[in-house]
Amino acid sequence: MRLFASILTAMASSFAVCRLHMRGRVGLLKSLQKPDTFLQRSIGTDIVAAQAEAPPRDRSDEKDGYKFLHALQVERQEQAERSVLINCHSRTNEKKFLKYLSKHGDIKKYFFYESYGLYAVVEFAKREDVASLLERAVIPNVNHESMVPFKSRLLSLRNLSLVDLSNQQSGLQCHPQTTIPINEFIKRLSKEESIDQQMTSLTEAYQLTEENSRLRFLVCSLLKDIAAAYFPECTIKPFGSSVNGFGKLGCDLDMFLDLDGISGRNVKMPKSGLSLEYQMKRANSERAVTQSILSVIGECVDQFGPGCVGVQKILNARCPLVRFAHQPSGFQCDLTANNRVAMKSTELLYLYGELDPRVRSLVFTVRCWARAHGVTSSIPGAWISNFSLTVMVLFFLQKRSIPIIPTLDHLRDLAGPADKSVIEGNDCTFVSDFSKIQLKSNTETLEQLLCEFFEFYATFPFSRMSLNIRKGKEQNKPEVAPLHIQNPFETSLNVSKNVNATQLDRFVALCQESSWLLQQGETNIPRGGASMTAAWGLATLLLPSQVAGIKSRKKRKLEPASERIKGLLESLKNKNQPKTS
Ligand code: GTP
Ligand code: MG
Repeated sequence: MRLFASILTAMASSFAVCRLHMRGRVGLLKSLQKPDTFLQRSIGTDIVAAQAEAPPRDRSDEKDGYKFLHALQVERQEQAERSVLINCHSRTNEKKFLKYLSKHGDIKKYFFYESYGLYAVVEFAKREDVASLLERAVIPNVNHESMVPFKSRLLSLRNLSLVDLSNQQSGLQCHPQTTIPINEFIKRLSKEESIDQQMTSLTEAYQLTEENSRLRFLVCSLLKDIAAAYFPECTIKPFGSSVNGFGKLGCDLDMFLDLDGISGRNVKMPKSGLSLEYQMKRANSERAVTQSILSVIGECVDQFGPGCVGVQKILNARCPLVRFAHQPSGFQCDLTANNRVAMKSTELLYLYGELDPRVRSLVFTVRCWARAHGVTSSIPGAWISNFSLTVMVLFFLQKRSIPIIPTLDHLRDLAGPADKSVIEGNDCTFVSDFSKIQLKSNTETLEQLLCEFFEFYATFPFSRMSLNIRKGKEQNKPEVAPLHIQNPFETSLNVSKNVNATQLDRFVALCQESSWLLQQGETNIPRGGASMTAAWGLATLLLPSQVAGIKSRKKRKLEPASERIKGLLESLKNKNQPKTS
């Protein structure tokens, strides 16, 4: 992949204007596409036969190798509907397990992972296979407790003869669903030969895997089965970092309960003749409808949803939601409804990430850097959100002297009639056919971009200006807020309204420090030989010692940035001077 990235950069220098499809397509291929390279293990003729008989993939919705996010989502949703999630014994005999399941139908894919126990995701070839499997499943018989008889595709393997007690080690290959700790990863980063490689390696190690992506769609599908008790035609779709290409292993699972199929939206009324309409309850506003639906579904998830714990209904938020933990997958879930603008933001971020491989690597690196220093947090508060941070990276990339990505207005101008989208009066139109987008020949390396990113925001006039990715320009702040980032679609809103001055100061101070560190020869030269594990380059920027410096500074009165930098410079000089005693 690294080689691929450098080939792409080299290609960029040879052409004045590059076509998008020649450059992008790295990250999400890993998590969303890649079905042909998915782990498959032979379990005898059943699976082999299933593979051989599988119909050729429909490529009609792919363009020049690119597959639209929508089509990818439909494919993943469909796979999820044919999948089950099974809690297994840690010493389950894999072969016997698969042979047993294969009695119900051909298994297309499967994998194991660990999260409060060992689990298997098993995808069958047909939905009927799952139905047959569920028909044979029994209700558990437990003493002293009663069961809520809600049947789902979350199962437990109870047949002890499938447990191989002779085998102390399970031998099952588990697919990690969490990242390696950052301090361990810093050691690995230090062995890379360039900052570009460090950034690529960070992205590869932390981005969502194919298996994690499948698990996310499967959890949505399991949730849909609960919501379908009331709304049989609904779907539940993941959005945000689970699908926008910037998701890190362990990120939350944002879900959207899509009732458009039954809401009457986009349905044409007949102009004449008889027709029937449903009698329905009325509510004061769309928000009230969303709140009542989420309240009821939240209650069901709480009372009946196997594996769903800690359910909180946060219905008075700007965007009402139900938050809970899905224990079998380990995902923190946010279920929303009527949140179509967020779906559009997801598509937009996905598009930008696909345009050029540097976009994803830079976003990933900045997100990890921000997390390592406590600039972002999984707890809601006055922190900069990952979404805001991503928009900041996109804005920076639009502001290069040769822009790496186009403005949103340009993407809107390229849109065809089918791309037209107006949501609650907001123009959310932008091109979906990537092949129409022409990119400029910017050849900057990831290292240059990282350095420049820190410098850009170390000196950005946040007090006066707002960031606007629609125009690719800063503009005067329309309202008072420490950080103002115009919402790309609901343009009167500020996506970073929650950020307070202290958090913005910390971000700016960290940018100054990181920019300064990257300019020091000592920081950005790989350490060869015996000290190969000494932190350098990106690894230095992620070290916790940097956090301590900034945190303690928070307590003191903030001195001007230049003073701090002078201080750092002095300390470095002193360190480099030969010891006299
Ligand atoms: P992480 O969960 O932190 O990894 O990133 P995320 O991109 O998923 O962010 P988050 O879970 O906070 O939000 C999910 C999605 O909702 C984002 O990707 C956006 O598409 C959308 N979103 C979040 N915050 C805002 C906001 O302030 N305005 C708008 N328009 N959309 C938002
Ligand atoms: Mg999220």
